[in-house]
Amino acid sequence: MIAIKTPEQIAKMKQAGELIAACHREIAKKIKPGTTTWEIEEFVEAFTKQHGAIPEQKGYYGYPYATCASVNDVICHGFPRKEPLKEGDLVKIDMVFSVDGWMADSAWSYAVGKVSGEVKRLMETTEQALMIGIQKAVAGNRLGDVSNAIQKFAEGKGYSVVRQFIGHGIGQKMHEEPQVPHYGPAGRGPLLKEGMVFTIEPMLNTGSHEAFIEDDGWTARTIDGGLSAQYEHTIAITANGPLILTQQ
Ligand code: MF3
Ligand code: CO
Repeated sequence: MIAIKTPEQIAKMKQAGELIAACHREIAKKIKPGTTTWEIEEFVEAFTKQHGAIPEQKGYYGYPYATCASVNDVICHGFPRKEPLKEGDLVKIDMVFSVDGWMADSAWSYAVGKVSGEVKRLMETTEQALMIGIQKAVAGNRLGDVSNAIQKFAEGKGYSVVRQFIGHGIGQKMHEEPQVPHYGPAGRGPLLKEGMVFTIEPMLNTGSHEAFIEDDGWTARTIDGGLSAQYEHTIAITANGPLILTQQ
């Protein structure tokens, strides 16, 4: 069953989403060669405290941190580290905040200093893939229309779409129905209805779509060492189309 949220519930999730967005804007200013993702982690923890939000990733199935910080070939769920970021790195920061128990989730990719054309193009294409998916998130469409649009666009640009990690419904729990793959046939899957809230969070790789999990049980890397980028928004289906709750 896919929960339908009331406008009041969506408004609360939007509060959480606006805080994540504000936090991402601050992170964007901090990321440069020499910054550590550990500093970002500490900043995010302090930011949530200051604003009365809860960093929901910390403790989720034993995940130890407020942020996921995934560098270069790490697809997602990387641990924040004390090792400085280097010029040319690509780092993804993922956060889930709640306000009064209602959650929002947004990951963003950041270029560290000056990056190669390859990294730049991967980042631009992944952000575009997210926006193309969001445009299909309208009442009356099927979820597969979102998935298919992302896959077609991404593969058309020569990238692969990660299969192992997908988007998800969100509300008072981080992961609710529906599952939101970023690949698959159009015209299939649940019918989208006003009041549904879910994430769209495509991960695009330069090489194979396959991932492996490191011994820490979390860090997901590309199997071939290729680069991976991710952009994620939490969106609500409304009468006026998709509403981005985590808009920066
Ligand atoms: N924010 C992630 C998502 O997009 C979930 C991270 S798993 C956690 O679904 F353990 F870090 F919380
Ligand atoms: Co996320």
